[in-house]
Amino acid sequence: MRDIWGEEAENQRELEIRAGEYLSSLGYESVRLPSIEFYELIAAKAGPELLDSLYEFKDKGGRSVALTPELTASAARFFATKLRDRPKPVRIWYVGQCFRYDEPQRGRYRQFTQLGAELYGSASPLADAELAFAAAGILKRVGIAPSLKVGNVGFVKRFLTENGAKESALGQILRAADHGDYQPAMEAVQGDAKAFLKDLEGNPQDLEGWLRREQSPSRKKALKELAQIVELLKAMMPEAKVIPDLLFVRGLAYYTGFIFEAFSSGLDSALLGGGRYDNLLKELGGPATPAVGFAAGVDRIALLMKHPTQPVTGTIFPLDEHSLTKAARAFSALDGMGFELYPSITGAREAMSRALKASHRFVVLAGELDGEDAVTIRDLKKREQQRVQLTDLKQILQEADRDAPREGPNERARHGHPL
Ligand code: HAM
Repeated sequence: MRDIWGEEAENQRELEIRAGEYLSSLGYESVRLPSIEFYELIAAKAGPELLDSLYEFKDKGGRSVALTPELTASAARFFATKLRDRPKPVRIWYVGQCFRYDEPQRGRYRQFTQLGAELYGSASPLADAELAFAAAGILKRVGIAPSLKVGNVGFVKRFLTENGAKESALGQILRAADHGDYQPAMEAVQGDAKAFLKDLEGNPQDLEGWLRREQSPSRKKALKELAQIVELLKAMMPEAKVIPDLLFVRGLAYYTGFIFEAFSSGLDSALLGGGRYDNLLKELGGPATPAVGFAAGVDRIALLMKHPTQPVTGTIFPLDEHSLTKAARAFSALDGMGFELYPSITGAREAMSRALKASHRFVVLAGELDGEDAVTIRDLKKREQQRVQLTDLKQILQEADRDAPREGPNERARHGHPL
């Protein structure tokens, strides 16, 4: 039962707002998906790892349902039932709760939030590049410069099946490979492929080199696709670190081609991940539609964010029964500037002590002595006090704030309040 609060909750909220605005500006439409889904829909293509960690149960009507472990399958259901006739491409984004019975540790929880985007109806590498670009763009907006690991799961799957691995064993082999264990893959392939795999393991980043050497037309095609996406990503974000990894696979079973994950220092696990899944819509009974998407781990990204939101900077105190309206007017005049309203009548001395305890910089005292249209403000940082007309209140506090900018909650916690 993990409650999220304080700076972590603030960071999550800020991330969701910034990412939502950004994705909307790229043409993605917002959708809210349920946190519960038909078991069949999730089970169809989740892959062994996700199935093992599923919270599944029968509801009171006897239906098999599960808490959503991810939202791509629900988004596909939504697209297939509500948006299938729209002109393509169709772009959506979502934020929602996900549940996996994982072993909890830093950045890995049993309930977490995913913020994702999906693009339906284009098989173009430009669409793959767009999604990876948008994913990196979200991280950039919260001050994180990620490195992107990119691969093509089609290449790995073909390599395995063209060299003797059984289609039915693919799930388990890929699951092990996703955890860096290539032994099951090694055991499944035959002949020269064993040596080839060993070489690949030693140098999985040399996309150009492997592309030159590759003999199989279908695998060459997969590598060419990946090289083209890498080129597009370099054109779109020359400053970004894009690292190809030919043995890269992801835990979910529906990917068919391009896959990617983003990493940043400070956390070993991926901040987000995604890829192309051209068969899922058809396999779920929808219209055959190529698709690509990603989901970002909101909890993980929030751990790395260094963007405390605007802290509360002051409190407005009504000093007597007759000044409630004046306090209300001051509160309204300072709307959005970081002032909270103390709801009970308080003496000036107690007001000051409360403001100091909360590390607030300004105290606004609304009392009878100042007359009908004025209040007293006290700047605890400069140790100054003045009487201010309500009409001037906003401007005077804005100027005071500009003279001596406020500190974020982190700095305050570290250095203590200047008074
Ligand atoms: P995924 O890689 O399983 O992909 O999850 C995406 C992101 O969710 C991860 O990179 C991670 O940040 C976060 N995440 C996953 N599990 C946990 C956990 N237990 N605790 C905290 N965060 C977690 C998907 O779910 C795909 N649906 C992505 C996608 C969308 N592919 C195509 N479209």
